[in-house]
This record gives sequence, structure tokens and C-alpha cells, in this order.
Amino acid sequence: MTAILSKKVNRPIIHKYTPDQYFADLRTFGQMIINDRCEENTFEITDDNRELYTNIFYWLTYNDKCQWSLNKGLYFFGSKGVGKSIALLIIKWILYKYTSIHVEFIQTKFMIDKITEHGLDYYNKRPVIFDDIAKEQMTVKIFGREIQPFPDMINKRYEHGALTLMTSNFKNDTIESKYGSVIFDRLISLCNFVKITGGSFRK
Ligand SMILES: Nc1ncnc2c1ncn2[C@@H]1O[C@H](COP(=O)(O)OP(=O)(O)O)[C@@H](O)[C@H]1O
Ligand SMILES: [Mg+2]
Repeated sequence: MTAILSKKVNRPIIHKYTPDQYFADLRTFGQMIINDRCEENTFEITDDNRELYTNIFYWLTYNDKCQWSLNKGLYFFGSKGVGKSIALLIIKWILYKYTSIHVEFIQTKFMIDKITEHGLDYYNKRPVIFDDIAKEQMTVKIFGREIQPFPDMINKRYEHGALTLMTSNFKNDTIESKYGSVIFDRLISLCNFVKITGGSFRK
């Protein structure tokens, strides 16, 4: 029997957090994000997303009722508009409110700009949301050096057990063929793969 090497990710835990506080925060932060995007939706918990948001509560509070591994980050995949990015952004604001930990948000189409600004090593350890993975340029030359920005970051982040949150619209086999099986295995070690279902909220 071969054991799957499971990496324990460094992650903050929110203690003494009640469901009432959590659902109030969901509404506040969910609506704030929608308003910032100048959209007219009202943030809501529906039959489609109730299980997702319940698991997020358990994940945040390190409660073993969670259906996901509590020692891994999160990767939400599924079709456009189902609420993947907003769910991770809400986690970002809740973590900031209760732990003061800042989670970087990187839309992968702007990944190169971010790396040019901060350098690759800046992203070795810090908590990051990679929004819409596999839409970035695979290989780039920065200061004369050729890098594969996302795989290079994932290798370093894997070494450090860095909290990694991600979204994408792609199927797993597309991700695997884009990044290769080694990086794909690292992503599996770093993140719970969670398929987000339901209809699009985009009107
Ligand atoms: N729980 C929700 N209640 C109401 N509207 C939502 C909810 N989740 C998402 N939306 C709406 O759908 C839009 C798209 O959500 P987003 O998270 O960006 O989708 P995805 O990342 O899955 O493509 C949001 O900007 C928001 O207006
Ligand atoms: Mg998105």
C-alpha cells in the first residue's frame, strides 16, 4: 500500500465563533463585495449554496463536522457565476476581521504584474487567493529569467505549507494537463478540491 503524502498547511483558526456571528458576517461581507462590483444582487444563502457556506464555517473554526480536510486550503471549481470567487473573498474578510491575517488576492490574469512588482519569493509563504487559475501566461521572462509563474509559486508554497485558496472554471483534467502531474499532485496536497454547483447568479 502506498501512502499519499499529505501536507499540513499553515492556516489560521477562528475560535469562539458562533453561527449567528458567521451568518451576519456572510451578509455584511457578501453584500460589500457585490456592492463594490456595482452589481444589484442581494447576497443570499440558497438551497444550492447552504452546504458550501456551512462547510466554510466548519473549516474556519476547525470543526471536524467539516466535509473537507481541515489541514488544507480550498480550491473551488465550477461554472461561471456560481459564486466561487465571492465565497473566497468572504473568507478573506472574515479571516482579517478575527485574526488580522491578510490574504492576498491575485486575479491570475494580473499575476505577472504582481510578480514584477513584488518578486516571486514574496509569494512563498503568505496566504493567497489565486482567482481563475489556468488563465495566466504559462511561461514568462522576468528580468531576463524565464519562469513558470504559477508552478514555481506552487512548488515553493508546497515546501512551506502556505495557505492556498484558488478558483477556476476548468475541469480537473484540464488543470492537470496544463500544469503536469507533479504540480497537480501538489495542488491536491495543498487544497481541498470542491466542486461548486448551482445556477449562475449573474443576471
Ligand atoms: N450568495 C450569493 N447571493 C447573491 N448573489 C451572489 C451570491 N454569490 C454570487 N453572487 C453574484 O454572482 C456574481 C458572480 O459571483 P462570483 O463569485 O464572481 O462567481 P464565479 O467566481 O463563480 O464566476 C457576484 O458578483 C454576485 O453578484
Ligand atoms: Mg470567479
